Amino acid sequence: MTKALPHVENMSPYALADMTAPAGMRLVSLSQNESLRGPSPKAVAAAAACLIKGGNYPEPDWFDLRHALADLHGIPAQGILCGSGSLDLIACVARAYAGPDRTVLTSAHAYPFFRTAAQMANARLDIAPETDCCVDVDALLAGVQADTALVFVANPGNPTGTRIPKSELLRLRAGLRDDILLVIDEAYGEFSDHMDAPCWDMVEANCIVLRTLSKAYSMAGFRVGWGLFPDVIAGQVRKVMNPNNLTSASQAAAVAAVLDQTYMRETCTMTSGIRQQAILSLRSIGFEVRDSVTNFVLILFADEDTASQADAALSAQGVFLRRQQGAGLPHALRMTIGPEPDTQKAIDHLERWKREAQT
Ligand SMILES: Cc1ncc(COP(=O)(O)O)c(C=O)c1O
Repeated sequence: MTKALPHVENMSPYALADMTAPAGMRLVSLSQNESLRGPSPKAVAAAAACLIKGGNYPEPDWFDLRHALADLHGIPAQGILCGSGSLDLIACVARAYAGPDRTVLTSAHAYPFFRTAAQMANARLDIAPETDCCVDVDALLAGVQADTALVFVANPGNPTGTRIPKSELLRLRAGLRDDILLVIDEAYGEFSDHMDAPCWDMVEANCIVLRTLSKAYSMAGFRVGWGLFPDVIAGQVRKVMNPNNLTSASQAAAVAAVLDQTYMRETCTMTSGIRQQAILSLRSIGFEVRDSVTNFVLILFADEDTASQADAALSAQGVFLRRQQGAGLPHALRMTIGPEPDTQKAIDHLERWKREAQT
C-alpha cells in the first residue's frame, strides 16, 4: 500500500468529541463550545431562501459577507478572507507560512488545532509556558528561535478561557522579529469585546486577526470563519485555500447573522449570566474553576485520574464535558456553557460525583 508522507504518517488524528449517550438517555453536549442557542432566525431564513441557488457555485470572493463584516467593524473589506470555520484559515496560514525550516510557536495550553496545523505543514511546534493558565508574553518572546516563522495566540484562550489585554499583544508584536507572522485567534472575541480596544489596527504590522461565527453568532454548523489580513499575506494565503470554500447558504446566513447584532449580543449576555452563576456554583461545591471571558469554563482536578473519573461519571449520565490532554491539561475538564437546565444538570452531576467520591 502507498504510504502517506512521513509527517502525515506520524500524525495522530485530531481528537474529536466523544458523544455517544447511553441508550435511552438524552445527550447533553457541553463538549464543543457551541452556543447555548441556535442561530438568529434571520440567518436561518436567509439560508433557506438561497437553497434554490444550490445548483450554482457559491460567490468565491464572499463579497457580501466581507462587506458586512467590514462595515460592522470599520475595517477594509479587501483584507478579509473567509474560511470554512476559522480552523480552515489556521490550517491555510500554516500551509503558506510554516514548514520544515519554519517553526511554529504557541503557548502551553493553546488551542490544540495549532499543533495539528503545524504538523500538517511538517513544521516543528515550540511551546512556551503559561502562567496560571494565561498566555505569558515574556515566555513567548523567550521561546522565539532563529527559525520561528509563525506565532499563534488564541485570545481569549481555549481551553483556558482567560485573556490578555491588547497592551500585552502589542508588546508581543513589538518584541517579535519583523519576519515572524503573529496570528491572534479571537474565536471568542465577541464575548469580551466590551473589555478592551479591538486589535484590527495591529494587522498593519505583521499580524493576522481571526474570528468565527461559530461561537457568539451560534453558527458552528454553517462553518464560517474569517480574518483580517495584511493585503500581501491575504494574497498568499488565498493561493492555498479551497477556491469555493463557503456554501451559498452559509454566506447568506452569515450576512444576516452579522446584520443581526441584537441577537448576537443577547446570546453573549445570556451566556455570561449562566457562566458566572456556574462558576459560583462550582466553586461553592469545592471545584477549582478558572475565571472565564468565554462560553466555557475550565475545571481543574487534583490529577489526571480524578478528572478522568469525573468525566466518566458524567458521560454515564449522557452529560459530555471535554478532557484537555491535547492542551497540556490532563487534570482538567472544559465545560461549555449550555442552556441553563443543561448547565445545571452538569453541575448537579459533578456535585453528586464529588460527594460520592469523597465517601
Ligand atoms: C480558539 C479557537 N480557534 C478556532 C476555533 C475553530 O472554530 P471554527 O472552525 O468553528 O470557526 C475554535 C473552536 O473551538 C477555537 O476554540
